[in-house]
Amino acid sequence: MRKPYVYITRKLPEPIVDQFRLFSEVKMWNSENLPVPREVLLEEASKADALLTMLSDKVDQQLLSVGKNLKVIANLAVGFDNIDVIEATKRGVAVCNTPDILTDTTADLVFSLILMTARKLVEAVDCVKSGEWKSWSPLFMAGADVHHKTIGIVGMGKIGEAVAKRALGFDMKVLYHNRNRKVEAEQTLGVTYQSFNDLVSESDFVVCLTPLTEETKGMFNKETFRKMKHAAFFINASRGAVAVEKDLVDALKNGEIAGAGLDVFVKEPIDLDHPLLQLENVVALPHIGSASVETRLAMMKRCCQNIELILNGKQPLNVLNM
Ligand code: DGY
Repeated sequence: MRKPYVYITRKLPEPIVDQFRLFSEVKMWNSENLPVPREVLLEEASKADALLTMLSDKVDQQLLSVGKNLKVIANLAVGFDNIDVIEATKRGVAVCNTPDILTDTTADLVFSLILMTARKLVEAVDCVKSGEWKSWSPLFMAGADVHHKTIGIVGMGKIGEAVAKRALGFDMKVLYHNRNRKVEAEQTLGVTYQSFNDLVSESDFVVCLTPLTEETKGMFNKETFRKMKHAAFFINASRGAVAVEKDLVDALKNGEIAGAGLDVFVKEPIDLDHPLLQLENVVALPHIGSASVETRLAMMKRCCQNIELILNGKQPLNVLNM
């Protein structure tokens, strides 16, 4: 019997690929760092029973219409805004993601970003390495405190709750905004639900973790930044397009907010001459929320399990549209 054909859109470690070989004929793109060209992806999609995709691959109507044999797309991410899930559902293609296993790793990164931004850690490291550290001085590299401040989490999913737990360890007051109230989290963690506007105006750290959808696109814009405290920081670890980058640049330049810690951008990789990268009060990371070796390997394995289960007609561990 013909083995199913699985195409992986980025070079993954051999031990992971070996797991695919147990149940499929598998091929993968030959670069770890560069995305598969669109024409190669379309060609492979036209033959594949399953695709393991990255968040940089667009799985749209065009791809799904050539993928006549496709049964499953497994995205190596919890976010899935790169995939037209409605179209996949119409065509009977299952879409899987990797929730839960990346929760704590991503929350660790979010909290690092808060500390890096508020305490000027990048500037401080650069200053030591470039020999600009001349003496201990009273206000040298003095940033803002994080402990005992107010954090406002927009998007209270599992990662939001994990960030809240970390914030409570810093004696912070935790506000959150979410489409649905999280009564259990309110009771167990002691976090407080706020309207979006109240959260934005009361928080010292506004942390965006909401998925990118038609409703959340551009929700952090000129008006939002104007409502924030001048001493507040904007932290984004969800998707770049939830913020209007031009408005963010203006708010940072005009002192409407104190700084931003960003792990995500509208265009990734961000262009080197992007105005955000010219600002001293911006800490920019290359979309590494879930990037620990343990977590990334677990995400790859999860994609493999989900693909195998679906190809065997079984219930996958994570599916968005079954
Ligand atoms: C996700 O999983 O959606 C992250 O953004 C990538 O690690």
